[in-house]
Amino acid sequence: MWGGRFADGPSSIMREINASIPFDKKLWRQDIRASLAHVAMLAETGIVEAEDATQIIQGLNQIAQEFEAKGIAENLDLEDIHMHVEARLAEIIGPVAGRLHTARSRNDQVATDFKLWVRDAMDMVDDALEALQSVLITRAEEHAETIMPGFTHLQSAQPVSLGHHLMAYYEMFRRDRMRFSDARSRLNESPLGAAALAGTGFPIDRNKTAVMLGFDRPTSNSLDSVSDRDFALDYLMAATQCSLHLSRLAEEFVIWASQPFGFIKLPDSFSTGSSIMPQKRNPDAAELVRGHSGRIAGAMTALVMTMKGLPLAYSKDMQDDKPPVFEAHDLLGLSLSAMTGMIAEVAFNEVKMRELAESGFSTATDFADWLVREAKLPFREAHHVTGEVVALAEKQGCGLAELTLEQFQIIDARISKNVFDVLSIDASVASRLSYGGTAPNQVKVQIGQAKQDLGLED
Ligand code: ARG
Repeated sequence: MWGGRFADGPSSIMREINASIPFDKKLWRQDIRASLAHVAMLAETGIVEAEDATQIIQGLNQIAQEFEAKGIAENLDLEDIHMHVEARLAEIIGPVAGRLHTARSRNDQVATDFKLWVRDAMDMVDDALEALQSVLITRAEEHAETIMPGFTHLQSAQPVSLGHHLMAYYEMFRRDRMRFSDARSRLNESPLGAAALAGTGFPIDRNKTAVMLGFDRPTSNSLDSVSDRDFALDYLMAATQCSLHLSRLAEEFVIWASQPFGFIKLPDSFSTGSSIMPQKRNPDAAELVRGHSGRIAGAMTALVMTMKGLPLAYSKDMQDDKPPVFEAHDLLGLSLSAMTGMIAEVAFNEVKMRELAESGFSTATDFADWLVREAKLPFREAHHVTGEVVALAEKQGCGLAELTLEQFQIIDARISKNVFDVLSIDASVASRLSYGGTAPNQVKVQIGQAKQDLGLED
């Protein structure tokens, strides 16, 4: 394709380092779609004769059928997917095929193809995230009233609703969807027609191809158009953030599935056994979701490093933009499906959760708040009195609710018997009705809002 000024062909090593077909063959649908739009525009603007355009269109459609049916026969000499399509087109329709590449370059072509691919990837992730949100809502609704220990520093802090805990992840995935959709709207400008870097002297119509390919408008600067990979980085950064959320949830599942916690039993379908220890039931899927997030962040870092020192406009380094994006997308898709499956089927052990929520003096804050509200102590003083009460209970080896009124009153005479109303974990959780709080009634409000946002009936 570019051999005119070369006497010798490339060495076999050059051929290998130069070729992107082993990975960019994934772009064949986008490549053909963009070529169909390009040639239709060339015909409409009179740059290519109508009969030639018809032949090119028929040839491209035939290639699409062939690739669909038989895959792509890779040839490293043909470098990339763009040359594979063009070479096959020449085999089918002869020299007329050479007219397709009028007024474009592989530089704007690859930017266009890759944008189309990443746009589809963003749409797939959005669907998967919506499915994940919807199972979170289902399980949260089931467990709005289930009480578990809430932690800070992984130390029992205050009892919370399990539904509330699950809805925290709903919020993270809601923000992830916003990030992808924001990135998608920024991506959606067509680079086609920027040609190699400087635009073209042919009277092309970039608006036409932009509309045909579902872009909002053409890009405004031809140099930027062929050197911009922000859209791929935006995808990878959003994917990294999303995988971080998945990883944190996966980590909680790993902890919760361990024997000392015993909060959950993961379904057989998402667990494995051990070849030596017959009792084992390992949370492999959760661990791999946690592990994959490291690889996704690695892919993001790889493209950041590739791009950081490149002058305008296109440099061949940019060919390395695709493998990290493809890898991250595969890993993210799998992680989202695995997490959705695990959440749908995980069994929560309400008894174990409750037991642990009762321990660790988790209603100490409720007691301190009672002192402020009912006995009118300043919060700092209440905090101190509560500390003494906790120390006494710890010495007695009992919970706060098991202390007698006399014992309370030895520490502070202002404590009266209705203090016992606030010491149970049920009372504690039910009292936290502040907007966004953990009271089951408030959690149900959050769930109702989420259902409305997702268009699920309430
Ligand atoms: N295979 C190349 C890539 O993926 C296509 C663009 C080649 N452009 C060039 N000037 N060599 O980036």
